[in-house]
Amino acid sequence: MQLRSVTTVTLLSISLLFIFISNAHAHNITRLLADHPEFSTFNHYLSLTHLAGEINSHTTITVCAVDNAAMSDLLSTHPSIYTVKNILSLHVLLDYFGAKKLHQITNGTALAATMFQATGSAPGSSGFVNITDLKGGKVGFSPEDNNNQINTYFVKSVKEIPYNISVIQISKVLPSDVAAAPAPGPAETNITAVMSAHGCKVFADTLIADVDAEKTFESSAEGGLTVFCPVDDAFKAFLPKYKNLTAARKTALLEYHGVPVYQSMAMLKSNNGVMNTLATDGASKFDFTVQNDGMDVTLKTKVVTAKITGTLIDEQPIAIYTVDKVLQPKELFKAQADTPAPAPAPDVTADSPKPSTKKSKKAPSPSDEADSPSPTDDAADQVADQNAAVRFDGARFGSLIVCVWWIVKTML
Ligand SMILES: *[C@@H]1O[C@H](CO)[C@@H](O)[C@H](O)[C@H]1NC(C)=O
Ligand SMILES: *[C@@H]1O[C@H](CO)[C@@H](O)[C@H](O)[C@H]1NC(C)=O
Ligand SMILES: *[C@@H]1O[C@H](CO)[C@@H](O)[C@H](O)[C@H]1NC(C)=O
Ligand SMILES: *[C@@H]1O[C@H](CO)[C@@H](O)[C@H](O)[C@H]1NC(C)=O
Ligand SMILES: *[C@@H]1O[C@H](CO)[C@@H](O)[C@H](O)[C@H]1NC(C)=O
Ligand SMILES: *[C@@H]1O[C@H](CO)[C@@H](O)[C@H](O)[C@H]1NC(C)=O
Repeated sequence: MQLRSVTTVTLLSISLLFIFISNAHAHNITRLLADHPEFSTFNHYLSLTHLAGEINSHTTITVCAVDNAAMSDLLSTHPSIYTVKNILSLHVLLDYFGAKKLHQITNGTALAATMFQATGSAPGSSGFVNITDLKGGKVGFSPEDNNNQINTYFVKSVKEIPYNISVIQISKVLPSDVAAAPAPGPAETNITAVMSAHGCKVFADTLIADVDAEKTFESSAEGGLTVFCPVDDAFKAFLPKYKNLTAARKTALLEYHGVPVYQSMAMLKSNNGVMNTLATDGASKFDFTVQNDGMDVTLKTKVVTAKITGTLIDEQPIAIYTVDKVLQPKELFKAQADTPAPAPAPDVTADSPKPSTKKSKKAPSPSDEADSPSPTDDAADQVADQNAAVRFDGARFGSLIVCVWWIVKTML
């Protein structure tokens, strides 16, 4: 009896949790399509190209899905992921077309703007899709740059959530020479040029002047790279301190602004935690903590807390964001003594007495940037940090186990 009521409560709270989760976002195209294995390839590529995120952030939208056979026709020509993105973005109409509306188009024909058109990569009218009601209840789809030849048709409605999102199936991939044209990948983009053109010229110029650091960034670009570039005002104000550093430390400071993995904005918002950088080198940690702060994403180094203020590029394998402060690693600069008590990251000070001794050892004059810290200091620092990190994760893991154990126990 009692067991049963506990089980009911558990099930109730689990379903409440699910309701909460599913209400957190208006719609989730990945989840909508997950129920339909015949669209698994299409769904997979919506995620790979990050179109899924863009679709989820729009309402009054129609996704024209194609089945796995149609997708393998498209993929058989081995288009680059950027070309696939252009083609699939032509399949996202910026208007709501449910089955009913498709069959009752005013005047029998309409032009729908698409996400491809909205990217600005589509010249002229090539980003529009012509929808035409045909004889026998057929509905034809054709990109505007297809000489008005219609050979793609509405198959069925997959999911309609009026008037937020309609997912329909069409018979084939929409043929568009413009969308299918080879698209340059962001890996070929010149990251210093992008930063220069968007308010981070001082940082970009400083990076170009440092051959070692520039090489590190360049060689990471292909395998995945996230750059946090300080805006000009911030880096300009920091230049006197920067010039005070030894050459090796200048390189480390610049490399500290790069992370050797691609992190989309969505990933940064959902994966809070410690992040290694291009400056990380075995014993020298040079990491910082990513933490959401309301709508903002902040980067905490124990010396400064910087905020992401803009996105310059966010496309696999490269992301470049602007930050409002220069990231100062604790390996090069003295941790802020004047920050209020709750400021230090919990992972260090939580339960280890060591960091405080380390701090007093490591707190000489405020002008010690140019001196190398004694290696023992760094070693102690790292051991303390690692222990704290292990403890921290251990605690979380422990509570997870307890939680699972409790659910299993109550359910049995
Ligand atoms: C439609 O989108 C709006 C805004 O995101 C949301 O508040 C609403 O709940 C959605 N409606 C449905 C039926 O999902
Ligand atoms: C959408 O659903 C997928 C699969 O259920 C999930 O992995 C993803 O995190 C969800 N995205 C959002 C933004 O909720
Ligand atoms: C339908 O056709 C009429 C007459 O040609 C035109 O005035 C009207 O704007 C059209 N409506 C739409 C929605 O295209
Ligand atoms: C769509 O294509 C059809 C057939 O080629 C054409 O008759 C119609 O005018 C086009 N519709 C629009 C809105 O351009
Ligand atoms: C990238 O752009 C910078 C100017 O911001 C230029 O100096 C550099 O030569 C360019 N690099 C490549 C590889 O084109
Ligand atoms: C540069 O270093 C010198 C010597 O360590 C110090 O006196 C000075 O305050 C530093 N300047 C800046 C701007 O950090």
